[in-house]
Amino acid sequence: MAPTIIATSLLIFFFLVTPSFCQQSFRPKALVVPVSKDPSTLQYVTRLRQRTPLVPISLVLDVGGQFLWVDCESNYVSSTYRPARCRSAQCSLAKASGCGDCFSSPPRPGCNNDTCGVFPDNTVTRTATGGELADDVVSVQSTDGKNPGRNVTVSRFLFSCAPSFLLQGLANGVSGMAGLGRTRISLPSLFSSAFSFHRKFAICLSSFGNGVVFFGDGPYVFLPGKDISSFTYTPLFINPVSTATASTQGEPSSKYFIGVKSIRMDENVTVPVNTTLLLIDKQSGFGGTKISTVNPYTVLESSIFGALTEAFTREAAASRNISRVGAVAPFEACFSRENILSTRLGPAVPTIELVLQNESTVWRIFGANSMVQVSDDVLCLAFVNGGENSRTSIVIGGYQLEDNLLQFDLATSRLGFSSTLLGRQTTCANFNFTSNA
Ligand SMILES: *[C@@H]1O[C@H](CO)[C@@H](O)[C@H](O)[C@H]1NC(C)=O
Ligand SMILES: *[C@@H]1O[C@H](CO)[C@@H](O)[C@H](O)[C@H]1NC(C)=O
Ligand SMILES: *[C@@H]1O[C@H](CO)[C@@H](O)[C@H](O)[C@H]1NC(C)=O
Ligand SMILES: *[C@@H]1O[C@H](CO)[C@@H](O)[C@H](O)[C@H]1NC(C)=O
Ligand SMILES: *[C@@H]1O[C@H](CO)[C@@H](O)[C@H](O)[C@H]1NC(C)=O
Ligand SMILES: *[C@@H]1O[C@H](CO)[C@@H](O)[C@H](O)[C@H]1NC(C)=O
Ligand SMILES: *[C@@H]1O[C@H](CO)[C@@H](O)[C@H](O)[C@H]1NC(C)=O
Repeated sequence: MAPTIIATSLLIFFFLVTPSFCQQSFRPKALVVPVSKDPSTLQYVTRLRQRTPLVPISLVLDVGGQFLWVDCESNYVSSTYRPARCRSAQCSLAKASGCGDCFSSPPRPGCNNDTCGVFPDNTVTRTATGGELADDVVSVQSTDGKNPGRNVTVSRFLFSCAPSFLLQGLANGVSGMAGLGRTRISLPSLFSSAFSFHRKFAICLSSFGNGVVFFGDGPYVFLPGKDISSFTYTPLFINPVSTATASTQGEPSSKYFIGVKSIRMDENVTVPVNTTLLLIDKQSGFGGTKISTVNPYTVLESSIFGALTEAFTREAAASRNISRVGAVAPFEACFSRENILSTRLGPAVPTIELVLQNESTVWRIFGANSMVQVSDDVLCLAFVNGGENSRTSIVIGGYQLEDNLLQFDLATSRLGFSSTLLGRQTTCANFNFTSNA
């Protein structure tokens, strides 16, 4: 889809210095929010409370998104809304691109004079527009890692206003997107500076029920009392070229990239891929592997897709007598259910292995994360073809992330992954959301 940038009445912008947050007497060690999958769009939707008086808002979760953006055009009522004044500390923190006035309506949230603006980005439809930078109260639940605890508020939480049309293509009932990306004003950065905790967050997506996002450090405990604290670590890389719909030149990407060096199957089968595609080209920003919660399934550049499906089909037939059947859109590689056994880790199919910094650091994708049942008789490989010249060669999507706990450590620039929680007799839907406050 071609990116679209829509200019609104916000004009040119400018800036200066540091953030300010209200001091709380109770200082949480970590925060927790639920995240559920919208069945019709397959988007992951999280919830928090904002404004005065507080109202619950639903937001599409974008792990690589730049910041929180919210529709301010309809139903935004708050006595604590404050636009970010030109040359304020907030504008500087947000690297806001200029300063401007608003002529399209009387003053209201999203339309004020002498404010700086940013570019809220609907990363699902790849549409971006200008939006006023602002702050307001945000409230979420603290956690001890086992249950939600007391609610805590950040009195001046930065976000961007957006016009209502930017919601097009998002799940019903949401009012914006929650960006957890690598910027100074993403949710993890703002929460960690508000409460002085580690710049870490963890996501655990579920296909049903409530998955969870933790801001701050562990423990991360899932029923029945499993503390998921052992991770395999791999470095996170910065793509020096922004992949946002609207961006200024020289701005790095806010997305999280990891270094896949090769792809294997069942340990012994090498999937032949052009290794140049696995590296980020420093000039163009093309290539490499990123993690995305706005892509429902992993997207592979076409030559990688072809090599993977061919190797998978051959290995499935040779090792398990599984036969390929006709494609079922959006999937190309589909298989007869006959001869596919069920296991604790999902359908028994070849294990797909993303080999990271060395041969012993491997992200294993088992049947539960590789196969989608599309009918009584057919299961499909849950990967889609991204075409030639795709910007990012491997985009690891939501289905492949489900029931894996991923911890992003921004200070040390590394990703910890648990591998499938099904192997540890729990799931991402097993966080105990009963408050013990
Ligand atoms: C911004 O200022 C101009 C004049 O300087 C005025 O016409 C306009 O109504 C103001 N807009 C808002 C939203 O206050
Ligand atoms: C805390 O927040 C949750 C939702 O985030 C809400 O259901 C609950 O009522 C709040 N508790 C208090 C005491 O405000
Ligand atoms: C890998 O190959 C070796 C030797 O050919 C064989 O013993 C082993 O079982 C194979 N491993 C898998 C997972 O197929
Ligand atoms: C590998 O990919 C790069 C980047 O797209 C391309 O320039 C090169 O020709 C490819 N090499 C082979 C052997 O296909
Ligand atoms: C493979 O499966 C087919 C049916 O799907 C069956 O007829 C055939 O006997 C099987 N072959 C082996 C070697 O098990
Ligand atoms: C592989 O990488 C991990 C993490 O970087 C490291 O701890 C481990 O020693 C490495 N293993 C080998 C065999 O190099
Ligand atoms: C969930 O947490 C609540 C509050 O601590 C506790 O009473 C309840 O027993 C827990 N549920 C389970 C299934 O352990």
